[in-house]
Amino acid sequence: MKGKIVLVTGASGGLGTYVTRAFLDAGATVIGTSRKIQQSDFTGAGFNANPGEISSRAGAQTIVDSVVSRFGRLDVLAHTVGGFAGGQSVTDIDDATFQRMLDLNLNSVFHILRATIPTLRKSGNGRIIAIGSRAAVEPGPGVGAYSASKAAMVSLIKTVAAENRDAGVTANVILPGTMDTPANRMAMPGADFAGWVQPAHVARLVVWLASDAGKEISVAAIPVFGDV
Ligand SMILES: NC(=O)c1ccc[n+]([C@@H]2O[C@H](COP(=O)([O-])OP(=O)(O)OC[C@H]3O[C@@H](n4cnc5c(N)ncnc54)[C@H](OP(=O)(O)O)[C@@H]3O)[C@@H](O)[C@H]2O)c1
Repeated sequence: MKGKIVLVTGASGGLGTYVTRAFLDAGATVIGTSRKIQQSDFTGAGFNANPGEISSRAGAQTIVDSVVSRFGRLDVLAHTVGGFAGGQSVTDIDDATFQRMLDLNLNSVFHILRATIPTLRKSGNGRIIAIGSRAAVEPGPGVGAYSASKAAMVSLIKTVAAENRDAGVTANVILPGTMDTPANRMAMPGADFAGWVQPAHVARLVVWLASDAGKEISVAAIPVFGDV
């Protein structure tokens, strides 16, 4: 990944931390963004913190404009921003929860795609890797808002893959099961952590999809199972 300019959204998150580290270890220049990210969050000359908000078109565009003005181009978008809400049946989900899931999981990717695609097309070898969830394709009871928002995200990524193939851009979405993050351990202290998906493994897949070896893979929605 040497010489590649990589934007990681949600770079301070449970998964985003691993994705950022994996790209840095692979030699990329990484711009890590989240609302509260700081330069001190990662060591290494290749890391550049770019605090920002991607819940609006303008916020996403500001982040991408600053990447392009500083580095001249963008080769890879690794989009990890997202969030979970569950526990209510569809008849009981309140409007605010439904809207929050759409904002976090669908609208954020829409905004960052619109902002990054013009510059990713210029790369000639642009890569888009987004993080969905197994729930996008295997919805279960009590996760209707989350599953629907992630399913719509999968659809958007596949559309973008088809629309930008002519410029050498690939777009894929990874669908992890429950991951072994500090937040999940705190939320589910009685769970069997051993069966959860390791964020480091997902991060490795993200970097592989962005690498030269992954250039023929596009329009894929790739589930990642834990040790189950
Ligand atoms: N954890 C799991 O078990 C699991 C399972 C399947 C799929 N996933 C998916 O995997 C992805 C990563 O999950 P995670 O557990 O790592 O999430 P997380 O720890 O909550 O991280 C979310 C990241 O997004 C940033 N963020 C949130 N809202 C933002 C906004 N409006 N603008 C900019 N940045 C924002 C947060 O940082 P700031 O607060 O600093 O903005 C943080 O860096 C998500 O898409 C999630 O749905 C997670």
